[in-house]
Amino acid sequence: MELIVLPVEAWAERVAGDLVERLRSAPDLRLCLPTGDTPAPVYAALAARLESGEASLERATIVLLDEWVGLGPDDAARCDGRLRRELLERVSPGPAAFHPVRVDELAPEQAAARHDDVAAGGLGLTLLGLGANGHVGFNEPGSTADSPTRVVTLEAGSGDAAVARYGAERVPEAGITLGVARLMASDEIWLLVSGARKAEILDQALRGPVGPDVPASFLRSHPRLRVIADTAAAALVTR
Ligand code: GLP
Repeated sequence: MELIVLPVEAWAERVAGDLVERLRSAPDLRLCLPTGDTPAPVYAALAARLESGEASLERATIVLLDEWVGLGPDDAARCDGRLRRELLERVSPGPAAFHPVRVDELAPEQAAARHDDVAAGGLGLTLLGLGANGHVGFNEPGSTADSPTRVVTLEAGSGDAAVARYGAERVPEAGITLGVARLMASDEIWLLVSGARKAEILDQALRGPVGPDVPASFLRSHPRLRVIADTAAAALVTR
């Protein structure tokens, strides 16, 4: 595991710069991307770099990490909408393909199965945020290393966050997420962590027992895991 700790002012630019480098060396990269507050500044920095011609998404494929079930297509908290607004609509050309989770057209179980088929085509680089309860995607506590892509019952805090932090009109019924097993099959994983409120859970994920209580802990056995944290999030890990 590679742990990179940066001051908050430099954190998003560093991640965006590293992404540009990856896209330059592998223009047809298959990228799995999360949404949420953590990656938002990274996408702003990345969009600016792509617009200034440092690299392009033209040949890249983007696979969405997860999605809520039970929110309308225009809900402010929808993961596909956020990724479009924060990155995809800000860059031209856009990616060769963008794969959202098909929650509007398909029943949840079918949408999960369809999304797993997409991810089974291979993921070159997967970016992940870290949930306050140790989840990655919607792999909530209780998830195992072999958890498949599936419909997940959300912990109360995860569902409430959709309303309180992301502006959802109602608490979502459930989530659909790429499973831990699918994420671990990615060639490379970058775990993005920022802010003091993630310090305790990051410490548990990186130094506590590996197991379902903190699903992010499973990432430690990935051969190419990079953790990119700001100083506040890494405060306990580097203590
Ligand atoms: C959300 C998403 C995750 C995200 C995590 C952290 O509920 N399901 O994919 O990475 O929680 O969110 P944030 O970055 O807003 O703290």
